[in-house]
Amino acid sequence: MEIRINGVGAMGHGEARCFEFPRNGRTAQGFLIRYHDGYHAYLNQCQHWPVPLDLGDGDFFYDKADRIVCKTHGAAYKADTGECDSGPCVRASLDKYPVARHEDHVLVTVPD
Ligand code: FES
Repeated sequence: MEIRINGVGAMGHGEARCFEFPRNGRTAQGFLIRYHDGYHAYLNQCQHWPVPLDLGDGDFFYDKADRIVCKTHGAAYKADTGECDSGPCVRASLDKYPVARHEDHVLVTVPD
């Protein structure tokens, strides 16, 4: 299934947009983040506990650490790969979804 997210050209470095999709009979939330000139999409769930990374505020990126940071216990994930390299879930990775850029929108492919 593809999720279309419009207006991505206006996103700044570290800015994110959340989106929802059906997953295992429930509604899951993902997020698209711009990291330098690239766009990356992940499931909004920490690999440590089953909680959203942002605690619902839509703010994922911590500039000083140059990482996506979980607001519950501080796990830090590389924004371009989703790999955790600091905190309670080192070596785990966020669920990453393919992103295709088309001018001012992207298509995120999430599992059916
Ligand atoms: S819940 Fe994310 S680091 Fe603990």
